[in-house]
Amino acid sequence: MKAGDCNAMEKTFGIRIVILGSFITGISLFHYLTPLHVAYLHDIFQRLYYLPIILAALWFGLRGGLLCSVIVSLVYAPHILFQWGGHFGMEAEKYLEIILYNTVGGVTGLLSQRERERTVELQKSKGVLEASYEKLRAQSDRIIAIEEQLRNSERLSTMGEFAAVLAHEIRNPLGSIRGTAEILKDDYGPDDPKHEFIEIQIRETERLNRVVEDFLHMVRPQPSEMQPCAVQEELETIVTLLGGEAARRQVELVLQTQPNPVVISADGEKLRQAFLNIVLNALQATPPGGRVTISAVADVKGACKISFRDTGSGIKAEELGRIYEPFFTTKSDGTGLGLAISRKIIESHKGKLEVESTPGTGTTVIISLPKQESVNGEMA
Ligand SMILES: Nc1ncnc2c1ncn2[C@@H]1O[C@H](COP(=O)(O)OP(=O)(O)OP(=O)(O)O)[C@@H](O)[C@H]1O
Ligand SMILES: [Mg+2]
Repeated sequence: MKAGDCNAMEKTFGIRIVILGSFITGISLFHYLTPLHVAYLHDIFQRLYYLPIILAALWFGLRGGLLCSVIVSLVYAPHILFQWGGHFGMEAEKYLEIILYNTVGGVTGLLSQRERERTVELQKSKGVLEASYEKLRAQSDRIIAIEEQLRNSERLSTMGEFAAVLAHEIRNPLGSIRGTAEILKDDYGPDDPKHEFIEIQIRETERLNRVVEDFLHMVRPQPSEMQPCAVQEELETIVTLLGGEAARRQVELVLQTQPNPVVISADGEKLRQAFLNIVLNALQATPPGGRVTISAVADVKGACKISFRDTGSGIKAEELGRIYEPFFTTKSDGTGLGLAISRKIIESHKGKLEVESTPGTGTTVIISLPKQESVNGEMA
């Protein structure tokens, strides 16, 4: 219980005691000061004692009710004894009233105490029910998320059935188109106005070929070749590969150094593919003068955490939930497969890929890969 609640309770307790004390004192004064011949007033005052007794029983339970009725009895008894002594009938009636005070104090106190205990029990059950409800809700959220994943994989496996056929059907004519475009390119030199169209044709066939390849990769994942893989070295390769692209975009590409390089068991080629997609996205989203920072650390639990932070445009809240969907893209020349493939690769390594983004400030992609062995054989 908080100190504030304690103070408030003490204050209420004090006020109630003062109220009861005032009632008992007031009623007793009326008794002692009112002449005996106005008997009807004494009858009224006598009944007024029930007020503090019932209040005490309601506020403080059995003990409070009884204590109050005993105090009332003690205060009232001398009045009966010394002022009503000799009036036998009246005296007996008033002693009987004292018995009733104590009965009412006890019974009302007992009932109110039981009521209070039931309320406490109900409060407890309410707490337990609320906790179970929270647990159920969390479980149902998890079930919904798993169902969504299942639906996604079902969709992907159906797509996989068609992918091979489709890829075959597309790739062959694509090869012919590309071949004929190359022949035409020889006939139309750079000075010819048609040269540019042929360039476009070649570029677009290349893009189409890449889409088919990416799609195939995603729906027909090759079995992973798990081998010791130095994460820092893979990241260095990516930085070297994309250094030119970063310079062309005037974006600073920084790989933070790691004193204890982490080696994990992974398919290096696939990890590289995922890293490449993510860094490319970061470079594409970052305006000239911006920066893309990559760092890999082993976190407290020993998991390898790789973060890719950019100072780019960020992702709108309404788009953040869709970026992993195959073919979701906001780019005119994007295929929308980069992140879908990357996430699949990381999940096939039992890892997690998360994206945090603030529009206008930048995006951070965080990859967590489970605890693995470090270079010198210790647990990283
Ligand atoms: N670092 C980032 N900053 C801002 N937006 C991003 C970032 N990374 C991803 N996105 C958003 O997520 C979308 C999906 O990314 P994804 O890599 O899957 O496809 P893409 O880059 O559009 O196409 P591609 O298949 O050529 O990679 C992007 O179109 C972009 O809107
Ligand atoms: Mg991309």
